[in-house]
Amino acid sequence: MKSNKVFDNMFNVSTPHGTDAEPVHGTAIRIKELSERDRRRILMHFLSLDNEDRLLRFGSQLPDELVTRYVQRLDFGRDAVFGVHDDSFRLIGVGHLGFAPRTEVPALADVTTKEKIAELGVSVLPAARGLGVGTRLFERAAIHCRNADVDTLMMHCLASNQAMIHIARKAGMQIQRAYGEADAYLSLSPASPGSMLREAVQEQVATLDYAYKANNRAAVKLLRRIGVNKSDSSKK
Ligand SMILES: CC(C)(COP(=O)(O)OP(=O)(O)OC[C@H]1O[C@@H](n2cnc3c(N)ncnc32)[C@H](O)[C@@H]1OP(=O)(O)O)[C@@H](O)C(=O)NCCC(=O)NCCS
Repeated sequence: MKSNKVFDNMFNVSTPHGTDAEPVHGTAIRIKELSERDRRRILMHFLSLDNEDRLLRFGSQLPDELVTRYVQRLDFGRDAVFGVHDDSFRLIGVGHLGFAPRTEVPALADVTTKEKIAELGVSVLPAARGLGVGTRLFERAAIHCRNADVDTLMMHCLASNQAMIHIARKAGMQIQRAYGEADAYLSLSPASPGSMLREAVQEQVATLDYAYKANNRAAVKLLRRIGVNKSDSSKK
C-alpha cells in the first residue's frame, strides 16, 4: 500500500477545498467530534437519507427500525463520530470511524502491525453535497487515526459509488473491486506534533461553532414558544 502526500503532511492547513475555517460556497465547514448528546440528531440525519442513499451508506436499504438500532448501538467511547452542522444546527454530514482489532479483518492482517484498524462510513445530506463536506470528514477521520496510533484506514462501498470512489482516489487509497463492491485502503503516516495540534485546533474551533449554533437554536425555540404563548393570551 502506498502512503499519500496530502495526508502525509496534515499540519498543512491547505485542503483541496480551501483552508480549515474558510467558507466553501458560503458555508464554513467545521468538523466536531460528536458525543452522546448528539445521538438524536445523528438519528435524524440517517433517517432523512432516502433508500438509495441508505444503500450507498450501509450497503443495503435499511428500514427505519434498523437505522435506529444502528444509531442506538453507536459506541462513542470505542469509535469516533464526526459531524458537520448547518446554521440551523442540523447535521448535514456524519462520518463514523469504527475501530476493530486487526485480527477481525484477516485481509489486512499482513499490512499493519498496529493493534487496530479503522473503517470509515460517510454520509452528507443531498442539499449539502459537492461542497467538500465529504472530503473534509474523510480528512478529519484520517488525522484522527494517525493521532490514535492507527495506520490503516479502510472504506467499503458499492463499486458504482462514483463520488465516494473519487474521494478515495483523490486521497491516494488503494481500491479493489469485486462483485460490484469496492474496498479501499489508505496507509497513514505516524502522528506528529503538527497532526496533534491540527486536530486539537479544529476541534476547538468546531466546539465554539457548535455552542453558538446550539444556543441560537435554543433561543429560536424559546422565542417561538413565547410567541405562541403571547398569541394565546391575546386571544383571551
Ligand atoms: C459520497 C458522499 C459522502 C460525498 O459527499 P460530498 O460532500 O458531496 O463530497 P465532496 O463534496 O467532498 O466531494 C465529492 C467529490 O466527488 C465528485 N463527484 C460527485 N459525483 C461524482 C460522480 N458521479 N462521478 C465522479 N465524481 C463525482 C465531486 O466532483 C467531488 O470532487 P472534487 O472534490 O474533486 O470536486 C455523499 O455523496 C453521500 O453522502 N452519498 C450517500 C452515502 C454514501 O455514498 N456514502 C459513502 C459510502 S460509506
